Amino acid sequence: MKILFLNGPNLNLLGTREPDKYGKCTLNDIENYIKKEAASINVDVKFFQSNIEGELVNKIQEAKGNFDGIVINPAAYTHTSVAIRDAFLAVEIPAVEIHISNIHTREDFRKHSLIAPVCIGQITGFGAESYKLGLIAIVDFLRKKSENK
Ligand code: DQA
Repeated sequence: MKILFLNGPNLNLLGTREPDKYGKCTLNDIENYIKKEAASINVDVKFFQSNIEGELVNKIQEAKGNFDGIVINPAAYTHTSVAIRDAFLAVEIPAVEIHISNIHTREDFRKHSLIAPVCIGQITGFGAESYKLGLIAIVDFLRKKSENK
């Protein structure tokens, strides 16, 4: 099973960016942690980060036929991107939306996600563990789906 982890704008700055909200782990620390967790359950993962909306759209399109599922932290694009939402609708790859902070306890503009309604579900507020919970959620969904076939 192959899972793509997509990361939106400013997540390349994790570790130094607002550590009170996003913690002290870098994206590289999180990637190494998730790769180990994934290997222990026989899952291949790939990480990609971009500050550019169209690059994330391209990765979602390219995932068709190459990945079984996507875990995405769309960062600020969560709240604005019709293009990312439409890409998920187009490729029909199961996806889980994740956030490090709890977007529902923050500013009003962060409470609304354009992406979550086209995902299986949303995980928000568990710090870097949101990535591991996202992995568990997508793998569980895909394994149950293949058992029911
Ligand atoms: C975030 C929450 C978003 O509102 C914000 O724009 C981010 C990070 C999170 O992981 O908590 O960049 O997605």
